[in-house]
Amino acid sequence: MIFRDLLWSDFDSLLETYYHLYEERAAGEPIGIHLFAQPPSKAEEVEWFANLYRKNLAREWICAVAEEGGRAVGSCVIQPEGGRRDSEIGHVGVLGILVDHRYRGRGAGTSLLLRSLEQARGQFEIVRLGVFANNESAKRLYRRMGFTTYGQLPRAIRRGTAHLDEEFMFVNMEGWVPPPSPNR
Ligand SMILES: CC(C)(COP(=O)(O)OP(=O)(O)OC[C@H]1O[C@@H](n2cnc3c(N)ncnc32)[C@H](O)[C@@H]1OP(=O)(O)O)[C@@H](O)C(=O)NCCC(=O)NCCS
Repeated sequence: MIFRDLLWSDFDSLLETYYHLYEERAAGEPIGIHLFAQPPSKAEEVEWFANLYRKNLAREWICAVAEEGGRAVGSCVIQPEGGRRDSEIGHVGVLGILVDHRYRGRGAGTSLLLRSLEQARGQFEIVRLGVFANNESAKRLYRRMGFTTYGQLPRAIRRGTAHLDEEFMFVNMEGWVPPPSPNR
């Protein structure tokens, strides 16, 4: 697996990974990303991807990609709070990460986080994220990277008839160094 910057040609495989989350949710898998009621159209996703690509080229947003067998199998995005750097909250980065279901548990998430956080150093003062409070594996991963929990919103996510809590974690990028042994 290789880890690199975002390419324009990543659209189809990243979209496939995202759309697959809807199937995982339908199958009752505990997907730790909040989704829409229905998958957005491809046209809407083109708009989302074009914006990500443009912001990444302009070095306003960070996007790291995992590639295996010539296709993108995971991505990690850090975007400024509120979407723009030039605001009073633009020094806070908001992180989102997704790995294709066939490639999880092989270190892709760890390497994507490391690459993104290394790039975030000097660009964002704080990086924060929201995680489903019951997603112990993701929380372990974030803790290994130096994230700490700063709060929890009870019943923040409504999935079907269930309500789930969201936990919020942050890492102070001033003085952040990569963990010595990120996988354990
Ligand atoms: C959360 C997510 C991004 C993590 O990515 P990942 O590629 O599975 O992460 P890693 O493989 O680096 O680490 C996950 C686990 O695999 C283990 N692992 C890492 N490298 C490994 C390897 N080579 N072989 C076996 N296991 C490995 C890690 O130690 C970790 O174990 P733990 O859960 O016991 O702590 C991914 O599972 C995902 O996309 N999930 C669906 C969406 C989601 O829930 N996103 C989180 C939003 S907050």
